[in-house]
Amino acid sequence: PEDIPVITIDGPTASGKGTLADEVARALGYWVLDSGALYRATGLAASRAGVDLDDGAAVAAVAAGLDLHFEDGRAFLDEEDISDALRQEATGLMASRVAVHLPVRAALHQLQLDFRRLPGLVADGRDMGTAIFPAAPLKVFLSASAATRAERRYKQLISKGIPANIEDLRADLEARDARDKGRSASPLQAAPDAFTLDNSAQTIEESRDLVLAWWQERGPFGPQG
Ligand code: CDP
Ligand code: CDP
Repeated sequence: PEDIPVITIDGPTASGKGTLADEVARALGYWVLDSGALYRATGLAASRAGVDLDDGAAVAAVAAGLDLHFEDGRAFLDEEDISDALRQEATGLMASRVAVHLPVRAALHQLQLDFRRLPGLVADGRDMGTAIFPAAPLKVFLSASAATRAERRYKQLISKGIPANIEDLRADLEARDARDKGRSASPLQAAPDAFTLDNSAQTIEESRDLVLAWWQERGPFGPQG
């Protein structure tokens, strides 16, 4: 699997990682790893089981025993469709609490590597380029201003019929960013060899085409290269 191509996309909340990963993967016919969904599912499962989210060993046991699968863009935990619960901002906050624990990150490590399948993978999260796929041939560090990100997340939730308040969202995302950057276990940071992209003023298509152009420059990688 070491020679299966991987593109990593890391960055803060609502910077557009998931959307960009999906678009790039679609253009290349690659698989996608939404690593945040694994931390979200862990937070959700632990909280449902009444486990203290600050107890790293107990949460790691939950992570190691997760019965999680993805099908047609939906996520299932113990056969229950948890896709909507996963996207809630409250679940994002739970995810960032469980994500500080090294044993939790270790428990999810191999699961993430297993997503690396032919013809290639686009992986998004916080530590894809720094910890999980450190040898990836293309690493992107995506960012956008906090105001832009709060507005994007607001529109995204409202469009799904989920009530939201833009001021609360901004406070939540800043709290989450601070925790993700400040933790000692795989903090949110750009890999030294990452391309940094601020997409505040970009459309999704512009960001996608830029990443595809970077990929072309590094290739060829298989038939699409
Ligand atoms: O995965 P992440 O939390 O980084 O963000 P996302 O869920 O991919 O994107 C958050 C929202 O921003 C989505 O509704 C995207 O459609 C939107 N977005 C945008 O409007 N313009 C961009 N250039 C990128 C994302
Ligand atoms: O979509 P959004 O950027 O809001 O969040 P996400 O990517 O689903 O991640 C939720 C939380 O999981 C983040 O705030 C991080 O604390 C954690 N996470 C992580 O620590 N490492 C990853 N590779 C992905 C997510």
